[in-house]
Amino acid sequence: MKKTLLAWSLVLTSFVTLSAYAQQTPIPSVTQNKEGRWSLLVDGKPYLVLGGQAHNSSTWAKTMPQLWDAVHAMGANTLEIPIYWEMIEPQKGQFDFSSVQMLLDQARQHDTRLILLWFATWKNGSNHYMPEWMKRESKRFPNVTGKTGKLIDSPSPHTEEAMKLDASAFAKVMGYLKDNDPQHTVIMVQVENEPGAWDTVRDYSAKAEKIFASPVPQELMTDALLKELGGVKKQKGTWSEVFGARADEYFHAWHVAKYIEYVAAAGKEVNPLPLYTNAALRNPLTNPMANEYESGGPTDNVICIYRTAAPHLDFVAPDIYLTGHETVTKILDLYARPDNALMVPEAGYANIKYLYKSIEQGMGFAPFGIDNPDGNSGPADKNAEIGKDYRLLAPLASDLAKWSAEGKIRAVVESESHDNQTIDLGEWEAIIKFEEKTGNGRALIVMLDKNEFLLISRDCRFNVQGKGKNAGKTWQYLKVEEGEYKNDTFHADRVLNGDETDWGGPKVGSDPKLLHITLVAR
Ligand code: DGJ
Repeated sequence: MKKTLLAWSLVLTSFVTLSAYAQQTPIPSVTQNKEGRWSLLVDGKPYLVLGGQAHNSSTWAKTMPQLWDAVHAMGANTLEIPIYWEMIEPQKGQFDFSSVQMLLDQARQHDTRLILLWFATWKNGSNHYMPEWMKRESKRFPNVTGKTGKLIDSPSPHTEEAMKLDASAFAKVMGYLKDNDPQHTVIMVQVENEPGAWDTVRDYSAKAEKIFASPVPQELMTDALLKELGGVKKQKGTWSEVFGARADEYFHAWHVAKYIEYVAAAGKEVNPLPLYTNAALRNPLTNPMANEYESGGPTDNVICIYRTAAPHLDFVAPDIYLTGHETVTKILDLYARPDNALMVPEAGYANIKYLYKSIEQGMGFAPFGIDNPDGNSGPADKNAEIGKDYRLLAPLASDLAKWSAEGKIRAVVESESHDNQTIDLGEWEAIIKFEEKTGNGRALIVMLDKNEFLLISRDCRFNVQGKGKNAGKTWQYLKVEEGEYKNDTFHADRVLNGDETDWGGPKVGSDPKLLHITLVAR
């Protein structure tokens, strides 16, 4: 009897502790405020992803140690890492979650959050992560047929059975996380990876042709969507009648997005963590046709198709490997929309300086391929470089996420011309000068009050002049403090004055700095 009582009281205590714990750690979410700006909330607080993404074949005990070395070299707070359908469901209906548990255990030991990448039906447009038992059945789980009748290395989105299998495996993954991750080590999950098809704009199989000849779904026939997509309003118009030259691409995007929606909905029903999918981009400046890029993924021109077809995705995200100032800033602008939160889940190392712009407009950033599993020349030096930024930003990451959602952040990045750039600060205009022409310059300003600013910058000089009420007035620095953030408060290590501020404003070299600046007009 005593034993039974003891057992019951243990059960009760752990239940009370667990539910108290669950209450203390609300599930991560993506929320939008009244002004339409987005936040990622983790543990109930705004969260900024200072991330890094692993190489594709790194989710193995053998390769994890050097991945953690990379995470620590960067000072990243979040590791983005794939989980593989082929490994998780090696036989139909038999699941092996040891890789997921390994990630949970190790991430907790390393005090790092995870974004899991569900490599499943689509990985870079192909089915290479479908389980073997599916790959062997190519008739049952067909690839798309190209325009000339040739099979393309990309799964068809019109295969209901594959969609249901993917959804049921994904739901199991999300269920595993629900049961084994009450502390939300995993803050978000990417559904598929760069979905769509290379080498064809859509599926031209007999089955797909029949669907293509049927009317465009009513959900796409709203005035707003037709306007954004350049479509013509028709009663029951076919894809070609409504969308003309873009019909093939929109058709593929719609069906890939609907498939992903089915998978995402199945997962979210079990465990409502934030979900997204990512895009292999197209040139954002030239409006190319889809035979020039991966068709059917969430490229900038079909974001609205994805947001309509896949409401269980919290957002769609750009993988930024394209380079050039105009191109990269345009991509960031295109994905930060009232109906889409911006996060950059993959970026080439050449684009690291755009971290600052991503913080201005979005929820996070991660360079791709932070580890070096094959022993080639790896990104170690570059990880140390980005580490300088991440370490400075980490103590105020939650504040930055909050200020970003409040619209208080402005950022500029040095362009190829090294021209000065200006930032509108209300009654002041900041002038950021890239005098050393390193190509690495960046500056992020937080508008704390009308005369009070935080400046985080490197490889540039800050200057300012009056604007609006202050236009034409002489002015001076009340104080310029250099310091760091500790426990949500700025602590000054030194005050900059004299030569450090008098000759054109404070200048920061290749070690990023945090300055607290107050100005006064005279
Ligand atoms: C983008 C993909 O999403 C990644 O998984 C990886 O294949 C990189 N490209 C390689 O550059």
